[in-house]
Amino acid sequence: TSNAMWGGRFAGGLDQIMEAINASIGFDQRMAAQDIAGSRAHAAMLAATGILTDNDAEAIRKGLLTVLSEIEAGTFEFSTALEDIHMNVESRLTALIGEPAKRLHTGRSRNDQVATDFRLWVRDQYDETEGVLEALMKALVAQADAGADWVMPGFTHLQTAQPVTWGHHMLAYVEMFSRDLSRLRDGRRRMNQSPLGAAALAGTSFPIDRHMTAEALGFDAPCANSLDAVSDRDFALEFLSFASICAMHLSRLAEELVIWSSAQFRFVTLSDRWTTGSSIMPQKKNPDAAELLRAKIGRIFGAQVALTIVMKGLPLTYSKDMQEDKEQVFDAADNLLLALRAMGGMVADMEANRESLRRAAASGFSTATDLADWLVRELGLPFREAHHVTGALVALAEGKGCDLPDLSLEEMQAEHSGITEGVFDVLGVENSVASRMSFGGTAPARVREQVKLWQEALS
Ligand code: ARG
Repeated sequence: TSNAMWGGRFAGGLDQIMEAINASIGFDQRMAAQDIAGSRAHAAMLAATGILTDNDAEAIRKGLLTVLSEIEAGTFEFSTALEDIHMNVESRLTALIGEPAKRLHTGRSRNDQVATDFRLWVRDQYDETEGVLEALMKALVAQADAGADWVMPGFTHLQTAQPVTWGHHMLAYVEMFSRDLSRLRDGRRRMNQSPLGAAALAGTSFPIDRHMTAEALGFDAPCANSLDAVSDRDFALEFLSFASICAMHLSRLAEELVIWSSAQFRFVTLSDRWTTGSSIMPQKKNPDAAELLRAKIGRIFGAQVALTIVMKGLPLTYSKDMQEDKEQVFDAADNLLLALRAMGGMVADMEANRESLRRAAASGFSTATDLADWLVRELGLPFREAHHVTGALVALAEGKGCDLPDLSLEEMQAEHSGITEGVFDVLGVENSVASRMSFGGTAPARVREQVKLWQEALS
């Protein structure tokens, strides 16, 4: 038998494989609540504009609530033959209330319906993600607050560069995640327009009120062009772009946690709640959460690429290709939330090992730049010459197997006779970081200022 929803011109049913490739109910049932919200808004509008009777609209409203409760209770039977969530809901509604259900689809198409449902879903996801992202930022700010003046090595090329503070390093990530937060809010604002009432592609001859349904669903306005409304998925791509960049930041932090928690670094101890043991090596405490997070990020990038490719060759307006938008976004959204939550937990629970950080900061000639700056400031050497003298002293220390502050004054004076005892002040890592008072610099005083600003911004 042919399809009850659209089978008027069809004599028979679908091939089984056709049914399998055509159906989206296996995944788009996640939009059930959004689909029912959209239908309720549509039915109420149809009654307000006199297109439906109030009695019909009321029967639809009640019926939709019943369908929703069946879905929430897990008693709803999803049917692959009914393709997608839209037809599953409508078919059940028809079984429940009969005739009025068949009037619900007036002035509407599945094309504007699915675009509306999906926007509502992505919007909900933005809202949930916002809070989780803020929680992670708060955990990072708390770490920065505790260790505003803890000295650690700063790296370039993963080689010791200059001493920095733990707080400064934590706040670097807060800055990155704050831009993600701003991208999130920006994307949410831009996508918040209603496709509902664009109908199949051209609009409708019924006197519908799209402003009314837009408002009822919390949209800022109806989409202004019906062709655009049913045919673009840039809102989903923008969500994936935000997610990809945020995921990239998460992955870099995860990578640092993996390195820092190793026995060779010992910069941090991850808590038992976020690590696992080995079944053969009793000493192991593996940073699995950080590793998995780092790996899961790849799926988010994959989703971004996959959906861009789905969309790039489609002529206007709707093509069935676009049904492939949802799984990518669902998977990316789920994994982004999971990664953000795992990172928030790891950061909140981890302990920085202040002593190891300091010891590492003091090794590797990390204050060589301070020495060169001192030669410029105190002896008036041109920076290039100071750089050369310092390089020679580094080579000397390296040859002796010691650090710069371990050289004697005589050894230093052999490289430049003007050097005095005062040089030793700048070779200490605490003095080094304290001197980096330029705006945005790593000095503890600067870090404390920024911690305060973030605490206020996030409270
Ligand atoms: N399940 C479909 C999708 O996700 C709904 C829209 C179907 N529209 C159509 N013209 N066949 O895209």
